[in-house]
Amino acid sequence: MSSLEAKIDRQKLPRHIAIIMDGNGRWAQEKGQDRLYGHFHGVESVRDIVEGCAEMGIEYLTLYAFSTENWDRPSKEVNGLMELLVDTIRNEVETLNRNNIKLYVIGDMNMLPDYARQELNEALEMTSHNSGLNLVIALSYSSRWELVNAVKSIANDVKQGKIDPAAINQDTLQQYLCTSELPDPELMIRTSGEYRISNFLLYQLAYAELYFTNVRWPDFRKENLYEAILDYQQRERRFGKTSTQVIDAPL
Ligand code: IPE
Ligand code: IPE
Ligand code: MG
Repeated sequence: MSSLEAKIDRQKLPRHIAIIMDGNGRWAQEKGQDRLYGHFHGVESVRDIVEGCAEMGIEYLTLYAFSTENWDRPSKEVNGLMELLVDTIRNEVETLNRNNIKLYVIGDMNMLPDYARQELNEALEMTSHNSGLNLVIALSYSSRWELVNAVKSIANDVKQGKIDPAAINQDTLQQYLCTSELPDPELMIRTSGEYRISNFLLYQLAYAELYFTNVRWPDFRKENLYEAILDYQQRERRFGKTSTQVIDAPL
């Protein structure tokens, strides 16, 4: 066990970590390479971080792999990324099963090419019986898309008399999100020095602790994850209360 890992308080682990995996393109360009080379190397980081989370007993890991807005990138990059994502998921299914990892995908699957949707559905099915780490891939995902969809579905159910508008509360909305089965992330990490959310889990991150690092995603490894968790464990999570209240009655 590394010295950083040993410092982590196992009783205070976040249940759910969400990561904006950013900086693949810059990492590659700094090496004089094509942006796709960066995405390719980003997969190594995904493997390492998934393994790290599984080893620690983190319950949920959500990785932002492709946003709705990323469809607007040059078609060469979009096609390359799609192929890489689908190939990776297909090749990793065996390892996921060996490690008892259950795969989820959140996002607008209708935007995906048919072959990609098919491969993904197979992978979801093949890992559906696993009960260890829940690995959520946000793919063709954006939070505004998700919220608009949720509002449409709620409106439909109101129209059909399934729900009473007066009874709509925060739990109702939560049930209509793609993440209805998942607890909210306690820790959100973004790599590569950008300080923004980029349309990721806007509702779910309401009280998440945010951690930003300059490390580019292809260089991000378990040790960097341990640093983020240690930083998270130093924070006082107040949820609107005063510090004294939180110390007197820990959550
Ligand atoms: C993150 O890396 C991966 C995706 C958004 C798909 P980027 O491709 O955004 O890399 P930078 O931010 O341009 O360096
Ligand atoms: C956010 O990264 C999306 C993913 C990591 C998948 P972007 O690189 O697309 O975000 P912006 O454009 O810098 O905000
Ligand atoms: Mg980026």
